[in-house]
Amino acid sequence: MRRPPLVALFGLVVPLIACGGPAKETAGDAKAVVFTEAAWAPKREADIPADSMGASIKRGLYLLRYTPDSLPAYATANLKCTSCHQDDGLDPNAAPLTGSHARFPKYMARSGTVIALADRVNYCFTRSLAGNAIPVGSREMTDILTYLAFISYDIPVGTKIAGHDGLIAMKDTLVGDIARGEKLYVEKTCVACHGADGAGIDGAFPALWGAKSYSIGASMARLERAASFIWHNMPQTAPKSLTPQEAFDLSAYINSKPRPDSPGKELDWPMGGAPKDVPYKTAGREAFNPPPLLPRANPTGAVVPNPPVIGRSDR
Ligand code: HEC
Ligand code: HEC
Repeated sequence: MRRPPLVALFGLVVPLIACGGPAKETAGDAKAVVFTEAAWAPKREADIPADSMGASIKRGLYLLRYTPDSLPAYATANLKCTSCHQDDGLDPNAAPLTGSHARFPKYMARSGTVIALADRVNYCFTRSLAGNAIPVGSREMTDILTYLAFISYDIPVGTKIAGHDGLIAMKDTLVGDIARGEKLYVEKTCVACHGADGAGIDGAFPALWGAKSYSIGASMARLERAASFIWHNMPQTAPKSLTPQEAFDLSAYINSKPRPDSPGKELDWPMGGAPKDVPYKTAGREAFNPPPLLPRANPTGAVVPNPPVIGRSDR
């Protein structure tokens, strides 16, 4: 008896099934990913695979954690990404980065255009870290994007997750009092970690104002945004122990202090409609409580240009 023809026959049948026909019946076995917010949990460092992809994810994570050590020419302030995006960008109370990979490209009213995630990352380099934009396409930018994709796994494109889209809005917008904030800065122990001069301690405690803090163009320079961060996360030893009023007073005090300029900020919100607490003048709105400004060492590096048009724009 010669068996090979039979084997050959099976060899033919299998690909046929895979291409259609009866195999359709079994297609339902493939697990469709159904995203349910309550059941979803971000991946953490321990879940990073031990392969080339894992090496890129890990490098991205470490760039977020040790930004000034890793990129001294770009991150010149006493701030790292995780100074604000706490718990490796996973903390829902601190502008979480989970899902950002699924939220971009997106229209940003502040830029008046649709931007890609790499540009959003550079907005934080140039504004929140008061540093310089890193080259899009560099190993480092790619590693940061790889980490952001890793902590966005299984989140479908375009999904809005509650509390995973920037800082949580404060329920009431209160008026902050600078003099009260100055007293609270000592009474509520902020001074112990962030220092009487607001400069923090390099590598241990981030700066709240001065040359090595966030720039005027950062979201944190806005009264309500900083009040939200402070109320949800500070003092680090007792988050949510302040009253909302105290958080607004502290925010008003901190944001009245000198901080780095953000070149090109006058072009923000080109269509108008800037939020009320933006501390610099924009189309149709005066500056809200502008702080004294410190010049930037490298004004060109501090700007993220809108994506240029390189095709035909005449029709
Ligand atoms: C001074 C605080 C601060 C620092 C430092 C900071 N960020 Fe941000 N970042 C924010 C805030 C606040 C937002 C959200 C804006 C809002 O809620 O209005 C944000 C938003 C983002 C977003 C968009 C998230 C989304 O899904 O919309 C990304 C991506 C991001 N930051 C990446 C980074 C990276 C990478 C670094 C380090 C290079 C960094 N950030 C450093 C404060 C900061
Ligand atoms: C025990 C030390 C400690 C105390 C006390 C403390 N912080 Fe912080 N704060 C930190 C650390 C550390 C970070 C960075 C987050 C991280 O690394 O996890 C931070 C981050 C911040 C940030 C965002 C990053 C930046 O530099 O802009 C603000 C704003 C802030 N703190 C304000 C306050 C205020 C206001 C108080 C008082 C109510 C306070 N902190 C009390 C340790 C402290």
